[in-house]
Amino acid sequence: MEQLKQRAAKKAVESVTDGDVVGLGSGSTAAFAIRELAERAIEIKGVPTSFQARKIAIDEGISVVDLDQVEAIDIAIDGADQVGDNNIIVKGGGAAHTREKIVDSAAERLEIIVDESKMVSTPDYPVPVEVLPSARSVVYERIRQLGGTPSLRIADEKSGPVITDNGNMILDCAFGEIQQPRKLAKKLSALPGVLEHGLFIEMADQIIIGTENGVETRAP
Ligand code: 5RP
Repeated sequence: MEQLKQRAAKKAVESVTDGDVVGLGSGSTAAFAIRELAERAIEIKGVPTSFQARKIAIDEGISVVDLDQVEAIDIAIDGADQVGDNNIIVKGGGAAHTREKIVDSAAERLEIIVDESKMVSTPDYPVPVEVLPSARSVVYERIRQLGGTPSLRIADEKSGPVITDNGNMILDCAFGEIQQPRKLAKKLSALPGVLEHGLFIEMADQIIIGTENGVETRAP
């Protein structure tokens, strides 16, 4: 699987050129892309989407800047938890989707990189929803009313909940197969206390899929 992720990452960085401002996605697949970018002998500026992406970029010698220090982002390269038909993507498995959505949407071009196991027809991955800590019980109930099954994301190596880079919490919200993603996205965005949800709809310009046999690209 790691090799498949790396294949997709390698392909994505081919479209980055000297002088580009690059949105740096989060997660293990995006980490491969950051390392591949460092391998290329080009000068770029990276706009990280998380503490993790920033740290890897700095360790690899890529100069990092904040979003408010650039006029535009030429390309963003990011991973995903599931990629469905019609450019419906679920992200946020790494709890970084709020900044990812901001940076990815600001980019001229968004390349999503995944291994083939992430490709589905209708996404059913529980939608990560970042909530203000004080709003979590209210949002929890609202999500149940929307037909979802929310669950507070608990940290692995700490007692208690995962705290995002923004100081908030994550509700992973299972909706089964998401048949009406646009409707659901609107409803989740409208809930007071919700910072951002992990449904990325029609945002990607290209999906790059690492497979056993090589790389496939899909332009939605
Ligand atoms: C982080 C994300 C990641 O892109 C997503 O979770 C995929 O991660 P990985 O490449 O490790 O499978 O959305 O918030």
